Amino acid sequence: MYAECALKNTVLMVNDKRLTNANLLNETQQMIPQSLIEKLQSTQHLVILTGAGVSAESGIATFRDALTGLWRNYDAQSLASEFGFLADPALVWGWYEWRRIRVLRAQPNPAHHTIAQLEKQVTKLTLITQNVDDLHERAGSCEVLHLHGSLHQPRCLLCEQPYIFPKETLPENDKENRIKPPRCHLCDGPVRPGVVWFGEQLPDHAWQLAQEACRHCDLMLVVGTSGVVWPVAQLPYLTDKKRCSIVQINPLKTSLNAVAAFNLHGKAGEILPQLYAAAFSKD
Ligand code: OAD
Repeated sequence: MYAECALKNTVLMVNDKRLTNANLLNETQQMIPQSLIEKLQSTQHLVILTGAGVSAESGIATFRDALTGLWRNYDAQSLASEFGFLADPALVWGWYEWRRIRVLRAQPNPAHHTIAQLEKQVTKLTLITQNVDDLHERAGSCEVLHLHGSLHQPRCLLCEQPYIFPKETLPENDKENRIKPPRCHLCDGPVRPGVVWFGEQLPDHAWQLAQEACRHCDLMLVVGTSGVVWPVAQLPYLTDKKRCSIVQINPLKTSLNAVAAFNLHGKAGEILPQLYAAAFSKD
């Protein structure tokens, strides 16, 4: 499975054990290990991989959390595949518009801000995200590798011409309405969301850069991802075991617990600022 996904570079969900509150850990205040603080202070190349959990404290739903996850209440096959879009374009476009409007109304949280601050502290930082929101950029992160595309960059389904949203597009009503997708001004094809759907390839350039960074980094923070969607889930396993330490930040245990050198169980918006303060605050 691993080799096949790596070669095909196609989005695939494996091992999707539904997460429950049963494995939610209660610690909110973490002891940050001294050895981790020292690693962060001396890192030459830090990679941060984020998932939906980093935006959870901004009020953006994750996909697989037991009660609030989007895939709990919506069907991934209908809403996150080209097949679903072709079957019912208005349902799919309306659903992504509903999500886009929620993102536009949300604000970056302390986790996004801390990641942007880290960029100024370390020699080199590569930020890789599976998120389709723009909260990292709005917090000040300069270069973000968006492996699953963006809600804000739709394109024509047929000719791939980018579509620019009209300025007055923020609807009054943000319920999950059916909305007919706009038409491409070049070829009149339907405009589709700019996200990567199941069965589609990741953006090639961003994916190459992400893999390269993981192979060469000496510290990797994996923040707020369940690690069940491949090929992105393979990234921590590309790191050099001898040189690189993996740090997981997540309220829940995931399969990464077994390989991470440090598992900090709690909310990203609380743990990342603590980690940053421990490593870089002057007092
Ligand atoms: P998931 O919903 O699968 O996982 C979110 C993770 O965030 C879970 O492990 C939560 O425990 C954790 N989490 C929740 N709140 C958190 C908080 N405050 N701080 C830190 N962690 C928190 O989301 P992803 O792993 O991002 O793909 O999902 C990967 C992909 O699956 C998405 O990009 C999307 C989806 O299907 C596509 O649409 C192609």
